[in-house]
Amino acid sequence: MGLDRFRRLFRVLEERLWLNHAALAPLPLPAKQVFEKAIDSMHRGDYGFIDKAEEARRLFATLIGCSPDEVALMPNTSYGMAAVSTGLKYKPGANVVTTDLEFPSVVYTWLALQNRGLLKVRFVRSKNGVLRVEDFEKAIDDETVIVAVSHVEYQNGWRNDLKAICEIAHEHGAYVLDDAIQAVGAVKVDVEKEGIDFLAAGGYKWLLSPIGTGYLYVRRELIDELETPIVGASSAEPELVERFETQPIQGFYPSKVFRPAETARRFEPGMLAAHAFVASAESLKLLLEADPDRVEKRIAELIHMLRNRLEELGIEVLTPEMDKPAGILTFKARKPEEIVKRLRRMNIVVSARGGGVRVSPHFYNNEEDIERLIDAVGKIIR
Ligand SMILES: Cc1ncc(COP(=O)(O)O)c(C=O)c1O
Repeated sequence: MGLDRFRRLFRVLEERLWLNHAALAPLPLPAKQVFEKAIDSMHRGDYGFIDKAEEARRLFATLIGCSPDEVALMPNTSYGMAAVSTGLKYKPGANVVTTDLEFPSVVYTWLALQNRGLLKVRFVRSKNGVLRVEDFEKAIDDETVIVAVSHVEYQNGWRNDLKAICEIAHEHGAYVLDDAIQAVGAVKVDVEKEGIDFLAAGGYKWLLSPIGTGYLYVRRELIDELETPIVGASSAEPELVERFETQPIQGFYPSKVFRPAETARRFEPGMLAAHAFVASAESLKLLLEADPDRVEKRIAELIHMLRNRLEELGIEVLTPEMDKPAGILTFKARKPEEIVKRLRRMNIVVSARGGGVRVSPHFYNNEEDIERLIDAVGKIIR
């Protein structure tokens, strides 16, 4: 069966054509239903759903090809990146390599540490929207602690070669932190195959999940490498958690020692938005049912079609051409904000980014959606 069968789960389409998944995603129907049910349970004082949030951890692990023990639930992407940046140790002279195409929080994460004198931030410069592997090679040296890069760049959809970047970083003893919020859910990510050390992703874009959900992957061997500057009650090893839950109050309880959990759970900052994670689990199920390989292929078809149609209209596409594009295509416009506003009035939702109009279809969009957008853009520029 084709992916079109999922369209009925996205009722946003009855009102608006949503081509804005690189910004925010509409919640699919099963996620909305579970979310509402959890809120209703909270209203009735029934918190039984909290344990079910664990399913989100398991499903996310399946999606990126790792063990659930390597996944920490997080409130967003930045928090996951901060768990890595504040958990690593830095020797004098340390540097971090990032790029000039990153989302602000990727860069701020490291500039904040530069402000504290802990490291120097180096930037790989893009050329015509492309980040070349050889430029990473030039920037990374034996003092590089980590390379922080997006899997897919948010302004123009450039898809980085994580495998090649990881290989170079590892040759120098450096780690790679992958900001995958613009990738997981849209393109196939396999942390093991690609050699990724850390991966952070918020849930509210391509993972079709509520705001307040995010995931952090930490490669098993690196869990002990990171300090835990922020801890919650569940960050401790299960035996300590159990004691704290069952033993009577004894003055100075639960324990004078903190032994962190063996799993990535140790990085979790206390109680999380469990009601949002149970909804996220529904969306992750849906993405797995649609099949990440098919999702990636479908999105690529729509992006190729979009590029061709825009070029037929004589519009310059800013997104570099790729055999395997991700879900973002940005086209040049003199007044992008104006075009975005006019499209909104026509019930088509896209964003202004990177000097153009950013279009980001998901797997449940179809050719008719693309034609409708092209028709509208044609009318606006005429
Ligand atoms: C590449 C990238 N990283 C991070 C974020 C957002 O980070 P957070 O989930 O911490 O708000 C965005 C949002 O647009 C993004 O595009």
